[in-house]
Amino acid sequence: MAMITADPKDVPHVEHFAFTPENLVKAQGWISHYPAGRQASAVIAVLDLAQRQQGWLPRVAMDAVAKLLDMAPIRVYEIATFYTMFQLKPRGKYLLQVCTTTPCWLRGSEAVMKACQHAADGETFSVQEVECLGGCVNAPVVQINDDFYEDLDETSINKVLDAFRRGETPKPGPQVNRQTSAPIGGATTLRSE
Ligand code: FES
Repeated sequence: MAMITADPKDVPHVEHFAFTPENLVKAQGWISHYPAGRQASAVIAVLDLAQRQQGWLPRVAMDAVAKLLDMAPIRVYEIATFYTMFQLKPRGKYLLQVCTTTPCWLRGSEAVMKACQHAADGETFSVQEVECLGGCVNAPVVQINDDFYEDLDETSINKVLDAFRRGETPKPGPQVNRQTSAPIGGATTLRSE
């Protein structure tokens, strides 16, 4: 995972953060998965809840997570700045996380990244380079919010982005004619009963 930081000039001041009652119940649910005294193990799930509530992770949200989990704030900051899933500044409506690790790079992620960078306006789309998303068999891959778009090239990523611009949600998964990660061209084994 890449270390990410946010330039302080891009980070708006947020005065206060408190979990909604509904999210507080969810956070307690995550905490209950771990033995007493080990509540810090829920930190990633609880940070994710805070991020989903706020849209990104201001420092006050990290502080609220630290307090809830009885952790030193610095330990929460360390986690939030390490994992690329956490956004330390506001992002566009759709976050384009473009994988550029070797398998995706060999399969054309540079063109996909260029298309995403071209689309990124900070409001509808934000773009971020990430390490392997774990979908290499369908490289190149872009994670858009919670979904993976796979087997991309310049044309297909532009089609996906255009669909989002129109307010549609394009179908996640392979953007070529194959079932999940099965071979392109159909089954090559287990072809008969
Ligand atoms: S290298 Fe891109 S998903 Fe693994």
